[in-house]
Amino acid sequence: MATEIEDYSQPVLPGKGASDYERYLRTDELLSLQRSPEEQVHRDELLFQTVHQSSELWLKLACFEVEGATEHLRKNETAAAIRLLRRSVEGVKIATQLLDQLEHMSPWEYQSIRRVLGHGSGFDSPGFRSVRRVSPSLGDAFNALRRDSGLSLTDLYVHGREHEDLYQLAELLIEWDERVSLWRFRHYKVVARVIGEDVVGTQGTPVELLAGLIKNKLYPELWQARNELTALAKEDD
Ligand code: HEM
Repeated sequence: MATEIEDYSQPVLPGKGASDYERYLRTDELLSLQRSPEEQVHRDELLFQTVHQSSELWLKLACFEVEGATEHLRKNETAAAIRLLRRSVEGVKIATQLLDQLEHMSPWEYQSIRRVLGHGSGFDSPGFRSVRRVSPSLGDAFNALRRDSGLSLTDLYVHGREHEDLYQLAELLIEWDERVSLWRFRHYKVVARVIGEDVVGTQGTPVELLAGLIKNKLYPELWQARNELTALAKEDD
């Protein structure tokens, strides 16, 4: 019986693009989302847009996983939540690392790119807005589980070995919080290095104000628990 030989060079998926790779990933559209050389005021616009667009994608994924983890916590599925939160933390780490690339721009030449940004400002970043939107519900879902177990945060840390999943979750929440602050710190340094610390941004915000935001905490109670543990240890001395 003759068997039909599959021609792997031909795409089978619907959509635009010469191959299934290009069709599934929609690379034609993706790679046309950056200004063309004719549209650019400076060749570094490609670097600038690539860093911003990829940051938006990684933050989108990170927040999607935080939302998924929150849903799992509401159903008491702690291990599944832990699995997704690891991805979220990794996503913010990657977004932080992406900032390094911006320091390859000349501060003088960046000024010509800055002129074409209009009132564009990071305060309107959908990715970072999502971070602010999804984080409180994650904290609420975690705290509801912890309370159901009859534990204060200090109890949870003192008896962490007996509540492994809740302990791991507490550590992932503080890690998410810390990574967001580290992104802010790194972003602040990039801004200071590229446009300076004593200037105002494209939406009129003094850059100085960004430095103040580094101290913002998503889960202050988790940081406070450390102070309480230190005080508790002192009582035991
Ligand atoms: C040369 C590169 C960059 C410069 C000069 C810059 C500059 C600034 C400035 C001046 C602000 C204050 C608000 C304003 O008036 O605009 C700001 C805020 C912000 N930028 Fe950037 N930025 C850069 C890269 C990025 C990148 C790659 C992202 C990635 C998403 C980003 C996201 C943000 C966010 C989220 C805020 C709000 C800060 C917060 O809530 O902590 N920025 N940026």
